[in-house]
Amino acid sequence: MSNPGEGLTTTKAPFIEQVRSEGKTFIEQPYELYSEENQETWRRLYARIRPSWEHYSHPQFLEGVEKLALPADHIPHLDEINKFLQPLSGFSARAVAGYVPAYQFFDSLRMRAFPTTITIRDGKLLDYLPEPDIFHDVAGHVPMHTDRQFADVLVRFGEVARAAAGFAAEIKDHDERMQKIESVIKAMARFFWFTIEFGLMRRPGGSSKDLCVYGSGLLSSHGEIEYCIESPRVQRYPFKLEWVINQYFEIDHYQPLLFIVDSFDHLFEQIDELERWMPEGRLCNVSPGEPAVNQDDLDSFLNAQVHDTAGA
Ligand SMILES: [Fe+2]
Repeated sequence: MSNPGEGLTTTKAPFIEQVRSEGKTFIEQPYELYSEENQETWRRLYARIRPSWEHYSHPQFLEGVEKLALPADHIPHLDEINKFLQPLSGFSARAVAGYVPAYQFFDSLRMRAFPTTITIRDGKLLDYLPEPDIFHDVAGHVPMHTDRQFADVLVRFGEVARAAAGFAAEIKDHDERMQKIESVIKAMARFFWFTIEFGLMRRPGGSSKDLCVYGSGLLSSHGEIEYCIESPRVQRYPFKLEWVINQYFEIDHYQPLLFIVDSFDHLFEQIDELERWMPEGRLCNVSPGEPAVNQDDLDSFLNAQVHDTAGA
C-alpha cells in the first residue's frame, strides 16, 4: 500500500522521479498508482469548478467536456479521453514525466500530440500549483482540443516554432543568433500565455461587452475564472499583437491584464501575423522581462532538426 501523500501527487511521486532519471519524454499513465487521496482531489476540483464553467467558459469548452465524457468522479484515463478526442481533431493527450523543452513542446503540438502531466496536486493545497498537473492539463486544456479550429491554432504554434528554428539556423554570427532566438522564444511564450493559457474571447452571439474564457490557466482555476471576468481589478483589452509580444507577465498571482480576441478566426489570423513578423525582424528585440528563457529552451530551438523531410 502506498503512503498517504504518495501515489501520483505533484512533486511527491517516486514513479515520476524514476522515469525522469531515465530521460524519457513520453511515458505511460500508470493508472493503478493513483491513491484514493489523488482520486478524491480530482472529485473536489471538478465539483467546485463545474458551476463556474457553466457560467464563464466558452461554449466550445463546455461542449468539449461533454464530448470527452470528462469524468467527475475519477481521474481520467488518457486512453479513454483519446478515444473521443482523436476522431474530432486528430489530437491526443500524451503523458509526459514533467517539463518538456519549448521546441519539443511546440513541435508535439504540430503533430497533434499534447504533452500532458499525469500527476495531481496535493489535496491539502487545492489552490497551490508548483507546476502543471493533470487537472490543469486535462480539465483545463483538453476540452478545447475537441474544437477543430482551436486545434489548428495549436498546430500553427508548432509550425511557427519550426520556422523560428530555421530562422535561427540562418544567422551565422553566434551572439546575434542567441540574442534573436531568445527574443523570438519570449515572443512566442507571451503569445501562448495571453491566448492559450489566459485568453478571453467575445462571447459568440453576445453583446460586445459579453466575454467568455477559453484560456486553460483560467479554466482550471477555481478562483480566477470568476475573477478574470467580474473583477474591476482586471484590465481587459482587445488583443494587439505588438503589445502582447512585448508584455511581461508573472505567474504567481492572478493576472491584472488580459487580452480579448473576437473569435477563433481572429486568433488564427494573429498567429499567422506572428509568423509573418519573424523574418521582418519584429520578434527579434522584444522588451525584456518574464518569461525567462532557460538554457534547455534555447538549446531545444538551436538543436532542432528542421531540415529533415519527414513532416516538412
Ligand atoms: Fe497550461
